[in-house]
Amino acid sequence: MKKKNDGPELPGEGDTDYARYMRTDVLLGLQRGPEEVIHRDELLFQVTHQSTELWLKLAASELTEAIARINAGEPSAAELLLARATHTVRLVTDQLDMLGYLRPEDFQAMQPALGNGSGAESPGWKQTQTAGRRLGLAFTAYLNDRGTDLKAVYAGEPSDPAYRLGEAMVDFDDRVSNWRVRHYKLAIRVGSHGGIGTAGSPSGMLAKLIDYRFFPELWEARTQRALVSR
Ligand code: HEM
Repeated sequence: MKKKNDGPELPGEGDTDYARYMRTDVLLGLQRGPEEVIHRDELLFQVTHQSTELWLKLAASELTEAIARINAGEPSAAELLLARATHTVRLVTDQLDMLGYLRPEDFQAMQPALGNGSGAESPGWKQTQTAGRRLGLAFTAYLNDRGTDLKAVYAGEPSDPAYRLGEAMVDFDDRVSNWRVRHYKLAIRVGSHGGIGTAGSPSGMLAKLIDYRFFPELWEARTQRALVSR
């Protein structure tokens, strides 16, 4: 049994094994210090964005593994992995509330520190978007290989693993759209909208993206089922 005063046994930097394994020295050095910042809310801004990147790194990894499981003919395993990815999107949606503490004048004041940076350049979101699209392709190929299609799956039993995976994909789609709703509202609240509702404005672009769906044919198939069973 481990004694309380045992020192670290892992290699690496840090006073404790926790610090060495979690790389806390590096991690906690990734934010601009009080002497560097031009506005004190930069810490709030960086922590929210950086932790979002970490969660989305996990989401993209779970999605990639889910795609591999679909390709291997294991829809139930894919469903479980997809649920994790969807949960990370929920978490990063909740995190957006933290940025709601920024007043427009605070956000304005920190602009010089941000350069030309935009969340649209987020590697985590880019990877998640790419993996989401690949997931749709993998599911279609899975159904094709088995001589079936979405219409047939959705006419069948909700306990069918393919049906369940379809519903998990709808959950994912829904959560990403919810993130976009919150993000759009946040952009308006923080005042980075370039003219609310103006066609071609950043806020107009964000509003349009809310309706984006990774798997439109899935939404269609489940609605058709409702119409047929009326
Ligand atoms: C104060 C906080 C935020 C404001 C005011 C804001 C504002 C905006 C604006 C105005 C755009 C439109 C493109 C542009 O003008 O650059 C945009 C796009 C985008 N932002 Fe943010 N954002 C914020 C936080 C975040 C966070 C935390 C993330 C997560 C990484 C993020 C990710 C994105 C993404 C992925 C886009 C591309 C549009 C999309 O895919 O929906 N943003 N943001």
